[in-house]
Amino acid sequence: MSGTYEPSIRDAVHRVIRERRDVRTGFRRDPIPDDVLTRILEAAHHAPSVGFSQPWDFLLVRSEETRRRVRELAMRQRDWYADALPAARARAFRGLKIEAILDTPVNIVVTCDPTRGGRYTLGRYSQPQTAAYSACLAVENLWLAARAEGLGVGWVSFFDERELAGLLGIPRHLEVVAYLCVGYVDAFPDEPELAAAGWARRRPLAWAVHEERYGRRTLPGQEPVSLLEETLAAIRPLDEDAVADARSRQDRMTKPRGSLGVLEDVSVQLAGLAGACPPPLPEPAAVAVFAGDHGVHAQGVTPWPQEVTAQMVANFLAGGAVVNAFAAQVGAEVCVVDVGVVADLEPTPGLLPRKVRYGTADMTEQPAMTREEAVRAVEVGVETARDLVAAGNRCLVTGDMGIANTTACAALIAAFTGSDPAAVTGRGTGVDDATYAHKIDVVRRALDRHCPDPADPLGVLAAVGGLEHAAIAGFLLGAAALRVPVILDGVIAGSAALVAAALEPTAKAAWIAGHRSAEPGHAIALRHLGLRPLVDLELRLGEGTGALLALPLVQSAVRALREVATFDSAGVSEKN
Ligand SMILES: Cc1cc2nc3c(=O)[nH]c(=O)nc-3n(C[C@H](O)[C@H](O)[C@H](O)COP(=O)(O)O)c2cc1C
Repeated sequence: MSGTYEPSIRDAVHRVIRERRDVRTGFRRDPIPDDVLTRILEAAHHAPSVGFSQPWDFLLVRSEETRRRVRELAMRQRDWYADALPAARARAFRGLKIEAILDTPVNIVVTCDPTRGGRYTLGRYSQPQTAAYSACLAVENLWLAARAEGLGVGWVSFFDERELAGLLGIPRHLEVVAYLCVGYVDAFPDEPELAAAGWARRRPLAWAVHEERYGRRTLPGQEPVSLLEETLAAIRPLDEDAVADARSRQDRMTKPRGSLGVLEDVSVQLAGLAGACPPPLPEPAAVAVFAGDHGVHAQGVTPWPQEVTAQMVANFLAGGAVVNAFAAQVGAEVCVVDVGVVADLEPTPGLLPRKVRYGTADMTEQPAMTREEAVRAVEVGVETARDLVAAGNRCLVTGDMGIANTTACAALIAAFTGSDPAAVTGRGTGVDDATYAHKIDVVRRALDRHCPDPADPLGVLAAVGGLEHAAIAGFLLGAAALRVPVILDGVIAGSAALVAAALEPTAKAAWIAGHRSAEPGHAIALRHLGLRPLVDLELRLGEGTGALLALPLVQSAVRALREVATFDSAGVSEKN
């Protein structure tokens, strides 16, 4: 075999890779000739495998009766999944087709034998999971070869694997790796169907390539940049043309000019952010609850024990907190990010384990964290924003959990606004007079010790901030860089926003203050930022609750801009 191929062959390989699609619709009924089917199975069988163990088998399912029963299993799983989804996602999911079991002439089940070849399979000895990986490589070979033949392939994973194996009479020692629906199609979509449906977005390659060390992102031949630098550099102001279009449309909508008050401004802001009028509906939305602990807790600034942070995280994940109730009401997803809880948390669906350190240090004695840790926590927030946006969310919502975190808020707000600690320190969860006076003193002592310089936002964060404050600052910057609106919750988000705005003031273009909390520092922070809160209900809970209440207001503002008729289109006379 020669080592290189002609460019045309190389290009053909890349073309097939690029134009391979997961296909669920548009199948033709015509059968697949035996030689074609054999070719794609040969391709699968030539996949690499751990220790050359070739752990796969291919079961061809043609019987309509069997496929009907398989489809029933898939439909049950589909319903189960749909029932679990937040309302906005469930609405979008209804329009998606997730299988083509009966629409294709043949279904191919790819199995894996994790025991094939005995105990000493080379490579699998260290990593047992490589058996299943090898079977996946066979699937990809089959998928590409099928594409080259004009055959569409749709992978269905909506199964209880044991149930499917039982129905198909697959021996117990084999695992079902893939269930593939295969048939001829006339055309392949240009982009993944889930992308076209707005369910998820393709992540840029540059997000996934790191040079030498995880986190030094770059593409070959380019200079590595830190995630924070890259994010700050990507932030741009509102698009002026879209802003002007949205203003003009608001003025032509069938209502008195300005009658939607602040909601008109919100719709104009979101148009400017999207660079389009009207902007997309900010739905689905996800609230990221960033959780961290605080060394300053040792100073007795709150009557709540520190363990409550981890206990409340468990409550969020079990669906039992106010944030869950409000998110369910407005159809949003809740995810919890452990950026610095003192306890080790069990892996649980919905929990993003991103611990930078086990709580901060006591800011009255030393910096809360190192500068490097502050940057890492900020980058956790940026990555969370990226992940949630790539997963298809069109609106982000901040949330927080951290016993003693209002003490860090007060210190941050005092540092950035120059306010006296007494003016910005609140009662948090409701401390008594003596504890309140002590809390102010603690904030004052921390500020006196560190003399944080607002011109050095990361330095302020490291000295007196919290890990969740840092992550929320990154989340706010990440959303701005991606031009996705983010609704800020209460005082924790407000103080984090001071950090983010000090790093890049233009980021404010993406921010909407969801509510004003009862904490006195919050109003001061919002004023400093020039943000107007949408809701004012004397809430002081955190978790993302106030911001979630504002979500329907933001969505209504955009829906009005998108759907309300104009005087000319509706034939309604304007006032003289
Ligand atoms: C392991 C795996 C399981 C999948 N399961 C399903 C599924 O159950 N239903 C479905 O509609 N698509 C399924 N897909 C297809 C993906 O949604 C699809 O690959 C992705 O959206 C990217 O689109 P593309 O393959 O056209 O590039 C699966 C893909 C993989 C790799």
